[in-house]
Amino acid sequence: MRALVTGGAGFIGSTLVDRLLAEGHTVDVVDDLSTGSLSNLADARSSAAHQLTVHQMDIRTADVVDLITRRRPEVVFHLAAQADVRRSVADPVFDADVNLLGTLRVLEGARLARSGRVVFAASGGTLYGEPDPSELPLKESLPHRPLSPYGVSKKAAIDYLVAYRELHSLEFAALALANVYGPRQDPHGEAGVVTIFGDGEQTRDFVYVDDVVDAFVRAATKGGGLVCNIGTGHETSVNQLYRAMAGQAHTDAEPAFEPLRQGELLRSCLDPSRAGIQLGWAPWTELDAGTAAVLDFVGRRLADGGG
Ligand SMILES: NC(=O)c1ccc[n+]([C@@H]2O[C@H](COP(=O)([O-])OP(=O)(O)OC[C@H]3O[C@@H](n4cnc5c(N)ncnc54)[C@H](O)[C@@H]3O)[C@@H](O)[C@H]2O)c1
Repeated sequence: MRALVTGGAGFIGSTLVDRLLAEGHTVDVVDDLSTGSLSNLADARSSAAHQLTVHQMDIRTADVVDLITRRRPEVVFHLAAQADVRRSVADPVFDADVNLLGTLRVLEGARLARSGRVVFAASGGTLYGEPDPSELPLKESLPHRPLSPYGVSKKAAIDYLVAYRELHSLEFAALALANVYGPRQDPHGEAGVVTIFGDGEQTRDFVYVDDVVDAFVRAATKGGGLVCNIGTGHETSVNQLYRAMAGQAHTDAEPAFEPLRQGELLRSCLDPSRAGIQLGWAPWTELDAGTAAVLDFVGRRLADGGG
């Protein structure tokens, strides 16, 4: 398969690129390196250089339409985004610029290239708003009622995907991701656990990055025209996660507690049943195995002097 991955130098995108290359696919990466890094693609660039081309490019520019049209990918994995909820609240215009107009450029490229499908990284943590506890774990059939500009732009991108499918027969699959964690994650990202906002009893659905990448690969050929939740169906509190990781790291350091951030959900958890039926997908990485892999990665990076 000829694949193009926007956001391919980021946390999830680079893990997806590694998997696609390992399966023998040819991959174009489009990334402006704003939050991603070429260091995430170092292994890929040294071991599979002939299969991989990296284009440093902003998806908001018309150049991206030309590039996709020229490269003619069979599948476009669209992960490039302004992915910070708080930034979207502070600067909703920038959020919409990247997540709406940037997405439209990518869709125009895919349409003109006659790509078979776009697989989109949607946000299950924001799509359903603040849920009624009786609705947990959340199903895709619930109303989509995002409460942040980021959630709105991610939801609107799904609406565009639906419209492009109707208008131009461009197939799509939208993966509504839970809280993804794993090696290469920006330590200042949403899943940061050293500073805990609130009392730490808020829950999240933590899903391991390799499992998420597996869902992306499956969605390249299955689950057309659908939103599929990609989560574990289990709630884990931030305190539980901290205690598990502190135990594995043999530290008794206490986390710092700060006030709960505005707009932060108290509980979140996604029902992955549809992904099971439509994609044949299930999460298989237990939380302690995933956190051990994260600690191993951090340890190796510290040993390499990477900080
Ligand atoms: N990490 C999570 O828990 C999570 C949860 C739900 C959804 N998502 C979505 O998954 C996708 C990947 O997230 P991630 O956690 O890997 O974040 P990330 O920040 O590591 O990856 C995003 C990538 O997009 C690139 N990018 C940003 N703006 C760009 C632009 N204008 N042009 C080109 N490239 C641009 C960045 O440089 C980065 O490499 C995003 O769409 C995000 O919204 C992530």
